[in-house]
Amino acid sequence: MSIASGSAAAKVILFGEHAVVYGRPAIAAPLSHLRARASIKSASLGEGCIVLAADLGQEVVVAEAASDDPLALIVRNTLDRLSISSAPDWIITIQSDIPIASGLGSGAAVSAAVVRAIAARVGSPLDAADISDLVYEAERLHHGTPSGIDNTVVAYEQPIYYMQGQRPEPLHVGVDLTLVIADTGIPSPTKAVVADVRKAWEAEPSRLEALFDDIGRVVDRARAALQTGPAEAVGRLMDDNQRLLVELRVSSPVLTRLCDAARRAGAYGAKLSGAGRGGNVVAVVPEGAANEVALALRDAGARATYVSHLRQSPP
Ligand code: PMV
Repeated sequence: MSIASGSAAAKVILFGEHAVVYGRPAIAAPLSHLRARASIKSASLGEGCIVLAADLGQEVVVAEAASDDPLALIVRNTLDRLSISSAPDWIITIQSDIPIASGLGSGAAVSAAVVRAIAARVGSPLDAADISDLVYEAERLHHGTPSGIDNTVVAYEQPIYYMQGQRPEPLHVGVDLTLVIADTGIPSPTKAVVADVRKAWEAEPSRLEALFDDIGRVVDRARAALQTGPAEAVGRLMDDNQRLLVELRVSSPVLTRLCDAARRAGAYGAKLSGAGRGGNVVAVVPEGAANEVALALRDAGARATYVSHLRQSPP
């Protein structure tokens, strides 16, 4: 029996995290070389559907799993969407290169890989909007009230300008960008940081709304800079966004130290990416300086670094 498979990329939020939860725009891009993969083969008759995720330390029997188990949920919802009434006898194996709980969208990528593998297995391809909807439902378990940016960028697998309630806008990138991403190694549950921002917003609505407006303006300037370049302008806007994230109190001494180290090593600009507190930092760097910046980030305490290129896309 042939094996069906699907994969999905990690993502990085370039601009606008947190403010995007409050209706402002944000920009995210896929990291195509960091991927989650799912493959499906037949299980013995009557065994039902089992999901094996060694990287996550999980083995899930779909028929027995709790209703809030994210892996079981994505399988059930995808089968539902494809009008398959009971879980077939399958073994779904998941493998992922994406670090967990570090703001690179590992949960969304795993879900999207599972959806694509199931769709391939039953021969009913799903479009990006369908995949995005299915992944969103699973993301709600991890995040509480996700803005929808992670599932969108993972499902479309292209740079996206995103605002809640609007059709995602694939972004034409008019400049080659070299990104260095550094993982602090400090897990940062998005749900907790988003809840803290919510408390701050309830306590000081006008201060937070003004910050979100400022972040929204940075995002719009960043969209223009991504379209026309130069890369230096994109970097400067990352610095602006980072200052606002510090004011929002979602940065941390470690994240500040890593951003500073990247800039000292020649980055055009740097910011935290994702929920903050821990997770990761993203820097825009001159072509050719990526290794030096990555080394500086590791010297400053990053557990791992990734270099990624965002290439000019046709208008
Ligand atoms: O932790 P991540 O990378 O999934 O990013 C969360 C981004 C937030 O804006 C903080 C939350 C959201 O749902 O958009």
